[in-house]
Amino acid sequence: METVIPRYLVPFHPKQVPHFFTDVLVVGGGLAGLRAALAVDAGLSALVVTKRELAVSNSCQAQGGIACVLSSEDRFEDHMADTLTAGGSLCSKTTVEHVVREGPRRIRELIEWGTEFDHIGNDLALGREGGHGRNRVAHALGDATGKEVMRAMIEQATARPAIGIWENTFTLDLLTDRQACRGAVVWNPRHGKTLVWAKQTILATGGVGQLYRETTNPEVATGDGMAIAYRAGAELRDMEFVQFHPTVLYIAGSSRQLITEAMRGEGALLIDRNGDRFMPDYDPSAELAPRDIVSRAIVSQMEKTRHPNVYLDLRHLDPDRVRARFPGIAAICAKFNLDITRDRIPVRPGAHYMMGGVVVDLQGRTTLPGLWAAGEVACTGLHGANRLASNSLLEALVFGASAGNGASLAARQVDDTYRALSLTNPRVMPDNGSVPFDVADIRASLKALMWRAVGLRRTAECLIEARENVHHWCHYVLERQLAGPEGWELQDMLTVARLIIEAASLRTETRGGHVRTDYPDPDDEHWTRHLAFCRGNDS
Ligand code: SIN
Repeated sequence: METVIPRYLVPFHPKQVPHFFTDVLVVGGGLAGLRAALAVDAGLSALVVTKRELAVSNSCQAQGGIACVLSSEDRFEDHMADTLTAGGSLCSKTTVEHVVREGPRRIRELIEWGTEFDHIGNDLALGREGGHGRNRVAHALGDATGKEVMRAMIEQATARPAIGIWENTFTLDLLTDRQACRGAVVWNPRHGKTLVWAKQTILATGGVGQLYRETTNPEVATGDGMAIAYRAGAELRDMEFVQFHPTVLYIAGSSRQLITEAMRGEGALLIDRNGDRFMPDYDPSAELAPRDIVSRAIVSQMEKTRHPNVYLDLRHLDPDRVRARFPGIAAICAKFNLDITRDRIPVRPGAHYMMGGVVVDLQGRTTLPGLWAAGEVACTGLHGANRLASNSLLEALVFGASAGNGASLAARQVDDTYRALSLTNPRVMPDNGSVPFDVADIRASLKALMWRAVGLRRTAECLIEARENVHHWCHYVLERQLAGPEGWELQDMLTVARLIIEAASLRTETRGGHVRTDYPDPDDEHWTRHLAFCRGNDS
């Protein structure tokens, strides 16, 4: 039986819940969200709503840095070429050029706002990562770029009186009326449900890593923005393209910490359990090949050696430099009695980044009027089938700024009569009473299934199994009215999982992050195209 996806996850009656009015609503408090809020005209009000505290986001955890043409030895054309090569013929050239060329301006702005990037003498220290032909990754605090960038951004955003910030507030759904977005219904423990009416809304909710058992992403990355955009009728695209980062710490008892690619940029080697370096057998760029290639090579080598992981080896590098460059990773490993200058670091791939998402144009406008998107939730065309390392913070800055500017201009065109709008269809579902299932158990089962059947390697058989299971769960989870964020997150995760599985089943080829072992080659004749999903009209 086909699952009915309700338009709204929860019932609300406009006369029975508080209302709040703002010119621009930003959903998500990571780098893209704060950059967007900072772009809103000072004469307008902006409200940032974030699921946890501002300091909890994928952006805050970013290690590697921000890729950008910042030295006289580099050229825009080279950064563009590397981005296009990694993206497997599915990038938008216009977007790539736009983002790459705007990069230096956005980095200068971060510096003006107080971000302390690492330097060598008077020059920015620029690292190398996989797929980059040059050193072009600006970083901070060694391996804690996101922490430093977000410190500066949070300082800026919280100092602006016109920007309100609601932390620990879950966005349940976008409000739509006459085929346009009018804000969102949000929930927090203090006020319960609130209708936030906005002249323009910007989604910046991040990615979907938590759909997978093994992931570098924080707990908050549950795909909420993609699910709420889908329910509201916006178009999503490229959902089959999930990036698996090659090197995630694999120690029993530790959380799955990212081990930055910048280590390989500094000369770290990948070796197997026998101590053999294997990457040169898989790609001429060896450890610095694009991520999809390195991840696949690692899995093959794990199979060949019948071992659950491979190792990063830095023992041949200068120990003082290694400790200075990677203080965060050194500290994490030390907790497990590993000295990164003397011991091999056990690693294996994990889900890291969603290339697909809510379709936006060059300014960040989605297909739903009144709704904009920036950062990982958006599909801008920059990444194609596989994102180039350290292009994500760059994209968040460029599209955060343009979505914020665009939304701000558009909000000025909307007069205050929008406040008189009422919802024409606030679907009020019957209360199903107590939840008859264990939310945490389904969440764990979904994550295990996605990892096993929709992970680094996919086949028709696995995808059929995944689809059957997810449809079954959707049937009794999505149609039910749940009472709190854990349940709503699960509903969002299932909604997004369905789209990933559907797209992965349809794309019968291997390209970028999407690997079909039953169709091991790219099929340019049929598949240099995108798969789009829009509620009721998926293609
Ligand atoms: C890393 O530091 O390896 C991750 C950076 C990125 O995802 O671009």
